[in-house]
Amino acid sequence: MYNFQTVLIADRSAHPERSNATLERVIEVLENVLGADFATHRDNLTRLTANLPLRQAVNAEQAGKISTYLSEQPFHPDQIFAIYQQLSYAEISTAEAIDLHREYKIPVSRLEDDLIPVKGEGSWVMDSKGRWYLDMDSNYSATNMGMNNPEIATGLFNQANLIISMKEDRVQIARSRFLKEIHQMMPSGLTQFYWQNSGGEAVDKSLKIAKAYTGTTQVIAFKEGFHGRTHGAVAVTWNEKYRKPFGLHNLDWVQFAEFNNIDDVKRIMDKTGAKIVILEMVQGEEAGNRPATQKFVDALWELVHSRGGVIIDDEVQAGFGRTALKEGDWFACMSYGVVPDLMAIGKAFGGGYPVTAVVTNKEISAAMKPGFDGSTFGGNPMAMTAALIATRQHRDRNITKNVIERSKQIFEGLEALRRKHPVMKEIQGRGLMFGFSVGSNANVVKLQDELRNEHIKVSLATAEWLRFLPLTIISKGEVAFYLQALDKALSKIN
Ligand SMILES: Cc1ncc(COP(=O)(O)O)c(C=O)c1O
Repeated sequence: MYNFQTVLIADRSAHPERSNATLERVIEVLENVLGADFATHRDNLTRLTANLPLRQAVNAEQAGKISTYLSEQPFHPDQIFAIYQQLSYAEISTAEAIDLHREYKIPVSRLEDDLIPVKGEGSWVMDSKGRWYLDMDSNYSATNMGMNNPEIATGLFNQANLIISMKEDRVQIARSRFLKEIHQMMPSGLTQFYWQNSGGEAVDKSLKIAKAYTGTTQVIAFKEGFHGRTHGAVAVTWNEKYRKPFGLHNLDWVQFAEFNNIDDVKRIMDKTGAKIVILEMVQGEEAGNRPATQKFVDALWELVHSRGGVIIDDEVQAGFGRTALKEGDWFACMSYGVVPDLMAIGKAFGGGYPVTAVVTNKEISAAMKPGFDGSTFGGNPMAMTAALIATRQHRDRNITKNVIERSKQIFEGLEALRRKHPVMKEIQGRGLMFGFSVGSNANVVKLQDELRNEHIKVSLATAEWLRFLPLTIISKGEVAFYLQALDKALSKIN
């Protein structure tokens, strides 16, 4: 039998991360599970706890009374299980969780409060109301190996019990373990690593290394490119609204070229003498997942290298198999048959745990000297443990094969849906990084709402484009579920 006391009162030895439950959460869970029948229980519990403020955590005595009351009700075993489970995943109500964010979070981004994920399982998440959704965002590609990850959890638990952190410059075993295995996944010659904690930092450090190596400062980035929000990364991000509030819109060291237009790159190189080019090989955030053309990539590599320049390939989102065209294409550059001079990697790298890196070759690496950079947390043992386990999982699960098969299934499915639903216009993408346009942003919002009703979680959009980044472990059945849901959702907005 379930003991409700154990989910109402935080057991600090087993769950130091939890607090005691609030009455508001208990009542919400009853509503989630019992539907309209919950009201009597709400009144009884309020009386039983002598009008305890709804958002105050219960004490042991109140928890005892609630627990006894719940265990005396003639609930169906499924209901008992659901109540217990939902309370164990969250002891704070949905409304309070949202209010806390609204009150105390610096509003740097649009707050997504349409659903609150509390438990993941493979490609699925359960929200605080007990509904399950197929996650088609994977946290911008960070949770490709699963919305939960028991193996990483165990590895992190073990490592935290040994040594929880170690500064970047000291030798440590977790990192040595990682270095013994990682080279088999990297593009040829990219052997030198410098770890960071976010994609933006990895981009910043790539720029620093490129500047140190070339002895130049001029950078060419691309229109509709996105590289993150740190000072350097946002400086090379195209959308002016991200740069202007911070005075980063008229920089004399950054120029933006037309994507897939080699003449424009050449024009800017001629004008500024730039030797550093940064690009996403599949433009994500700002372009709805638009791949570079092979012709452009070949011409860019030829042009930049013929002038002694360097190319920074930002694979923070596209990397770790997401854009594979053949097995073993761990990075988009591999599927284009080119090797960049520097590569920024992140997101899926740690299976959801924050770890990123700049990777480069020996010659460029040698331009960095002791004292040029440093980091307290970069490549710490927890991050290295997560990266080791996540990258092993990618190989063990043959993720690039899955990406190729699921991508084919998705693009065929989308083409069929486009023929059926005129609201669906262009389709673009590569691998499991894709999107389609629906004519207006209003249609995007409507479609996202309809998809949520069909148990699909998708929050990514660019103007009239919906963007999708499913987990790279997504199965054949899950893709079929997504396509069916999309069909239903599209018929509602036609
Ligand atoms: C291509 C690319 N580069 C860099 C970043 C920044 O990564 P982070 O949010 O981890 O700083 C992102 C984030 O979406 C990205 O898509």
